[in-house]
Amino acid sequence: MGSIAQNSINCLVQSTSGQAEEAIRSRPEIKAPHDVLIRVSAVALNPTDFKSPASNPTPGAIMGCDFVGSVVLAGDAAGKNFQPATRVCGFVHGSNPGNPDKGSFAEYLVTDSRLLVRVPENWSDIEGAALGGVGWGTVALAMETSLQLPGRPSKPAPPRDDGSRSPVMVYGGATATGTMACQILSMQVYPRCKTSFHMHRSLVLTIHSSGYEPIATASSTSSTMVQGYGAAAVVPYSSPTCGETIRDQHTSGSLRNALDCISTPESVNCCFTALGRIGARYAGLDFIPDEWRTRKAVKVHMPLTYALHGHEILFEGPYHRDADPSMLELGSRWRDEVQALVDSGRLRPHPTRELQGKWRGIINGLKMMKAGEVRGQKLVVAL
Ligand SMILES: NC(=O)c1ccc[n+]([C@@H]2O[C@H](COP(=O)([O-])OP(=O)(O)OC[C@H]3O[C@@H](n4cnc5c(N)ncnc54)[C@H](OP(=O)(O)O)[C@@H]3O)[C@@H](O)[C@H]2O)c1
Repeated sequence: MGSIAQNSINCLVQSTSGQAEEAIRSRPEIKAPHDVLIRVSAVALNPTDFKSPASNPTPGAIMGCDFVGSVVLAGDAAGKNFQPATRVCGFVHGSNPGNPDKGSFAEYLVTDSRLLVRVPENWSDIEGAALGGVGWGTVALAMETSLQLPGRPSKPAPPRDDGSRSPVMVYGGATATGTMACQILSMQVYPRCKTSFHMHRSLVLTIHSSGYEPIATASSTSSTMVQGYGAAAVVPYSSPTCGETIRDQHTSGSLRNALDCISTPESVNCCFTALGRIGARYAGLDFIPDEWRTRKAVKVHMPLTYALHGHEILFEGPYHRDADPSMLELGSRWRDEVQALVDSGRLRPHPTRELQGKWRGIINGLKMMKAGEVRGQKLVVAL
């Protein structure tokens, strides 16, 4: 490990009223062997950045989750894979009641290298921040824990008896989580091998038939974009028969898994209508009360992406999580999956929209998100 001169950093913290305000804090330090110190170059915004301060106020806590930046210092166990100047993206638990110093809206941050993805040279910082970690982490947790889907990009699920791929519903396909889900569900890493053109073609066709088939919902404005991210079909969520259409026309009653990126009474009703009778699982990204459930037989689970760091999540009620080191192991395995997809050029971030103005840009972006003005775009700010 070396050292750097700067001891204080500029950052954005929660004010006593829960708004974002500029502040100065001590530069964070490496505390564990897998930690790395990162100079943050750009951040991406998530709905949780304005929701968390309201639901779990922590005045003074550094805000922000997704980031891209360069490694400055690495702990003993991280140094081999994360040399200084390596460009990486990932996420931290910002606005964190259990660790108020942990946020990405800051000039420097320290995080566990096992959840970091190396950013390809031909990606801009804006693209790297937009990939971040919240999106793929949420999809990983939803697929593995909530829906218990066995398929992975590196080891796709086998096709069904008729050769078709199992459908997975993605309600809110135009959300940043939705486009990531559509990609990861439908993609796989092609094995690296030397073949003739014809052999390669047949290999690709065989592998292509063994992933999942995302069936998404979106507005008509976002439908084409969602298909471009891998959805096999996109049904308008505004249709009063959205759930019936997916059940009868797209999955013939065989749908077993739904990922709901919206979590409203309408979205729950649509997913529960679309899901088939046997073995149905539903992953909702926000808490849904019992009275919204239109069928009791559907297994409901809410993934909480912050949990991937393995620490206790000091939130109230259903958002609380005990410390669980197996979550970090899960996240690390999926980091490898995502790294392979990124390296092979097969995964791309949500469409980006860069906001100018550094800290002021973040504050404006949070207001835009809260007002519901951001659709089909990931807001990103260079620091
Ligand atoms: N549990 C967790 O750990 C976790 C992790 C990540 C995110 N989340 C939560 O998941 C949700 C999605 O986050 P995100 O960042 O992926 O979303 P996002 O990118 O901000 O989503 C924007 C999109 O949401 C869609 N939308 C908005 N209101 C809708 C409605 N009433 N019905 C249907 N679609 C609607 C719009 O799609 P159209 O363009 O098609 O209209 C819009 O393009 C948020 O509530 C977030 O807090 C939870």
